[in-house]
Amino acid sequence: MDELLNRLKDFEKSALAKLNSAQTKEALEALRIEFLSRKGKLSEFSKSLSEASDELRPKIGAEVNRIKKIIQDAIKFKEDLSPKLEKKEILDYTMPVKSSFVGHKHPLLQTVDDIVSIFHGMGFEIASGPDVESNYYTFDALNTPEDHPSRDLSDTFYIKEGVCLRTHTSPVQIRTMEKQKPPVRIIAPGRCYRSDTPDASHSPVFYQCEGLYVDEGVTFADLKGTITAFARMMFGKNIKVRFRPHFFPFTEPSVEYDFSCVICRGKGCRVCKHNGWLEISGAGMVDPEVFKAVGYDSEKYTGFAWGMGVDRITMLRYRIDDIRLLYENDIRFIRQF
Ligand code: PHE
Repeated sequence: MDELLNRLKDFEKSALAKLNSAQTKEALEALRIEFLSRKGKLSEFSKSLSEASDELRPKIGAEVNRIKKIIQDAIKFKEDLSPKLEKKEILDYTMPVKSSFVGHKHPLLQTVDDIVSIFHGMGFEIASGPDVESNYYTFDALNTPEDHPSRDLSDTFYIKEGVCLRTHTSPVQIRTMEKQKPPVRIIAPGRCYRSDTPDASHSPVFYQCEGLYVDEGVTFADLKGTITAFARMMFGKNIKVRFRPHFFPFTEPSVEYDFSCVICRGKGCRVCKHNGWLEISGAGMVDPEVFKAVGYDSEKYTGFAWGMGVDRITMLRYRIDDIRLLYENDIRFIRQF
């Protein structure tokens, strides 16, 4: 008769397993009928009690009752649970958390922040001016002749007669000097606009950062030192800076300056077109004509100004090979920074 006890044990195990995996009310009801009804499995066990010996009968009877109670409790437990399950009220605290994306600054503005904080450390203050700017501040006050090609419709977006979208951040030099007497030490990050056809290295909207330093006795050596110090703080101690003669209407002498390629360390690669240098922007000593426009005494004061291609610097530090990516705002791209 031990065999009957063993069969009861097996039945208990499989019954509880089936109950455990029942997902719907209907499935639960079907199991209740299968196990507990008059013609169910447990009644069958009760019927076979008559075959058991006097000694075993009470043992088996007690076992049947115990299993019946366990099954009833299990069904009740599942019934209590199911409405909650259907309403999804049950919280499983062990489930892994779905990570959510927290926004952050755009890579261009991260670069602006870093540029600003480097120059802040050298004593420069932030200045700003409007994106929609008059021709006076964009060109005239910056000693740019009427027939200069940068004024052409093919280069400049005009809003109306005498008003344009600024093509560089240099107008902020004028606005600052009009308001303030030397010494002046400012940087002016901001958007600029030129009527360029977009490609991997041109965007009709781009970022520049202007710098201006005016005081008594400021020399070209100060310009070189300031830009070189910036380059090292931005890209590391080993960066080299090179100045090439150039022309801008608002500086004299004028230069363009390059950094040694931050990708190949000057050895030559695709990014620097195999010459080891990367063009960053222009700079120079403020032209006396500009001082005249803002009422500064050019006999007493000298100064230097420089521009900085923020897009270029961003692309170099993050190894981005297409400027358009910075303006398309594709979240899959931006999330990487
Ligand atoms: N404004 C110039 C440009 O956009 C750069 C520059 C700034 C040059 C200041 C000299 C001095 O290219």
